[in-house]
Amino acid sequence: MKILGIETSCDETSASVVDDSFTVHSNIIYSQLEHGKYGGVVPELASRAHIRAIVPVIEEAVEAAETDLRSIDGIAVTKGPGLVGSLIVGLSVAKGLALAHNKTLIGVHHLEGHIFSNRIEHPIEPPLLTLLASGGHTELVVVSKWGQYEILGRTRDDAAGEAFDKVAKLLGLLPNKGSVMGGRLLAELAEKGDPQAISFPRALSREDGFDFSFSGLKTAVLNFSRSLKAGELERIKADIAASFQAAVVDVLVTRTVKAMKSTGISQVGLAGGVAANRSLRTQLGDSVKEQGGKLYCPTLSLCTDNAAMIAAVGVARLANGYQTEVDLDATPRLSL
Ligand code: KG4
Ligand code: ZN
Repeated sequence: MKILGIETSCDETSASVVDDSFTVHSNIIYSQLEHGKYGGVVPELASRAHIRAIVPVIEEAVEAAETDLRSIDGIAVTKGPGLVGSLIVGLSVAKGLALAHNKTLIGVHHLEGHIFSNRIEHPIEPPLLTLLASGGHTELVVVSKWGQYEILGRTRDDAAGEAFDKVAKLLGLLPNKGSVMGGRLLAELAEKGDPQAISFPRALSREDGFDFSFSGLKTAVLNFSRSLKAGELERIKADIAASFQAAVVDVLVTRTVKAMKSTGISQVGLAGGVAANRSLRTQLGDSVKEQGGKLYCPTLSLCTDNAAMIAAVGVARLANGYQTEVDLDATPRLSL
């Protein structure tokens, strides 16, 4: 069984072919560069860029998988959450292809896709605790069965990736870099700095529960940067980046370990764009191991938005006898 996955929820146009053993036959990702000069994703530009890219990206994915649309068993497409105009592009193409080729159409929750990114490479059997940290979401999710999710905690304001992006912007790391993803650039700079140079706040650390908050941290970095004398910011930029990253990683790791203890779940999955962060992967891996658990991290190409994770959810759905959702529509605000 083969599934074609389509992902267009934000600024990546992606298509992928995955089979029923979760082998990825292709995973084509086109990252839109047109937003770079605006410092953030412009929804209208994103929809137009998806329209231009979607057909060639699907053709490339099908060709790279050495298959054709007739041999595909189902089409899985992101239905939300995301930018409505962007979601509609992927959904319209998926619906058209499903109708034309008489294939099952499967609407997939974007966050379930991120959770499944770990299932692609590892034959994990739940229960699994997933720390999902992306540009739009930061959540601790209990996966009691595939398809059955309980959110233990979530961010009350900014997502972890969003905080990375905003701090990268205020440190001036974004101009002329094309992409609006500051996280990777900030992480690269952080490698050169001292993570203990500045003590930034760890919000909600004394509170019960598993929620996160990153907007105070972002403001603390902003205030600290503004308090510096001219020229000093340039000199200690790497220390600021490293200290900020240490605060984010500390909060994410502490909360995840607390959730492991509270639920008794020893298998942990890290997912979402921030899962690409080396420091987070290492520190979470060490802490989970200290608790006698095991951490699963996706390879880098499966951390940020991609269609393979969407196709993987489609594989699981179709294996359970899924029927096409006739009224499948874009759902910009969709909870797991
Ligand atoms: O999952 P994703 O591709 O999109 C959403 O669903 O939001 O995540 C993108 C986020 C961005 O905020 C980006 O800055 C962040 O992931 N990111 C990173 C790294 N690579 C990407 N954050 C920290 N360190 C990285 N190496
Ligand atoms: Zn995502």
